[in-house]
Amino acid sequence: MGYKVTPSLVFAVTVAAIGSFQFGYNTGVINAPEDIITDFVNSTLSQRLKEPPSKGLLTTLWSLSVAIFSVGGMIGSFSVGLFVNRFGRRNSMLMVNLVVVAGGCLMAFCKVAQSVEMLILGRLITGIFCGLCTGFVPMYIGEVSPTTLRGAFGTLNQLGIVIGILVAQIFGLPFILGSEELWPMLLGFTIIPAVIQSLALPLCPESPRFLLINRKEEERATKILQRLWGSQDVSPDIQEMKDESLRMSQEKKVTVLELFRSRSYRQPILISIMLQLSQQLSGINAVFYYSTGIFQDAGVQKPIYATIGAGVVNTIFTVVSVFLVERVGRRSLHLIGLGGMAVCSIVMTVSLLLKDDYSYMSYICIVAILVYVAFFEIGPGPIPWFIVAELFSQGPRPAAMAVAGCSNWTSNFLVGLLFPTAAASLKAYVFIIFAVFLIIFWLFTFFKVPETRGRTFEDITRGFEGRGQDTQRSQKSPAMELNSLQPGKQPAARV
Ligand SMILES: *[C@@H]1O[C@H](CO)[C@@H](O)[C@H](O)[C@H]1NC(C)=O
Repeated sequence: MGYKVTPSLVFAVTVAAIGSFQFGYNTGVINAPEDIITDFVNSTLSQRLKEPPSKGLLTTLWSLSVAIFSVGGMIGSFSVGLFVNRFGRRNSMLMVNLVVVAGGCLMAFCKVAQSVEMLILGRLITGIFCGLCTGFVPMYIGEVSPTTLRGAFGTLNQLGIVIGILVAQIFGLPFILGSEELWPMLLGFTIIPAVIQSLALPLCPESPRFLLINRKEEERATKILQRLWGSQDVSPDIQEMKDESLRMSQEKKVTVLELFRSRSYRQPILISIMLQLSQQLSGINAVFYYSTGIFQDAGVQKPIYATIGAGVVNTIFTVVSVFLVERVGRRSLHLIGLGGMAVCSIVMTVSLLLKDDYSYMSYICIVAILVYVAFFEIGPGPIPWFIVAELFSQGPRPAAMAVAGCSNWTSNFLVGLLFPTAAASLKAYVFIIFAVFLIIFWLFTFFKVPETRGRTFEDITRGFEGRGQDTQRSQKSPAMELNSLQPGKQPAARV
């Protein structure tokens, strides 16, 4: 018997995805008002120092307020484990909204207070919050969703992120909030989703897996499952959780160090890290960064609108992925995405090299960029976030989310740091580097990543524990194997 998509399940997942929106919004928000904020830093420091600061100091302070967000993200993503087992998944999400309200206030009032320190501190605190969100949200969504819908709902996390980026780009337009007077509101806007989420989260249930496995509250977990999944008979899932609970009580507590030491976790944690790296080293942020210049070269009058266009493509293809991920499977979509991106980055390189000889090459380059973005959102965008929650059972999951999140933030930071230098020295050839990475990650995914579609957490974990022949077999035809295990559960087609 399949499970229904109930309103309470959709509500819980949507409210959680506000956290992803926050991550996307705060990532995108800083790009538009660069000149305006630099002017603010200049005039504030001029008054304080009684002389205009050097250009070098201004650039450093600007880079700092951009980059410190990622540093906060690394700290936050690594701290996920401190919260989720102590306070529960839902309450952790609820509590940390206080953090972002604090960060938002610091940024919103930095201009009035004439304080550059407040801006930088606000960015750091917001980054910590976003780092926590990148762990909390996929974990909560993975744990409340029925097996057959886990991927589709997991992709909603990415949808929250890309909508956040798009909204930030639109709000950042000079005639909306990206003006000299209103930019503090642009940065402070993040408080509003925090308030909305804080009001709605108390109406969402705690993760039933957390209640049963970590807290042993079976009755409450059963009630929540019945309501969320619209089915009276949830006993197979309760039984699966009980089995997991039993196994967990036999293991010792899983720390981050333990993840790398223990044989049964080594394979899944390697996959989790590699998939996060495949998302960031695919060059998506570099392409977004570079695209403005390319659109300008191609004669687009206002390149900001072309960037917003790319944001729209981003959103549309994330929605496509929501519908594909339970039919085609995670592994296949990730392979299709990486392969398509590799081809597009080669086309980008060639068209950039030839664009001075043939003017139509600029348009080919723009098409290649948009197709590249589409392929990203089909697989490498959404999948790395939620597959980590799928590869681990309840015990090691918080530690695994922390390691994966931290790898994502760190690689994101490094690409942002190194790309401008690499682009300056390699010119158009810079995309060849990403093409090489994409091919390496394609091969890794092909040989190492198992399909997790439609499999219970138990089943996936057991696949890794049975080393040698077992692992080999479950990697070759995982989808078939699990369908024969669960004849009643069809991959979701009803989303
Ligand atoms: C900073 O402001 C002063 C005027 O107060 C101006 O002369 C100078 O060019 C500005 N510096 C930068 C880097 O914009």
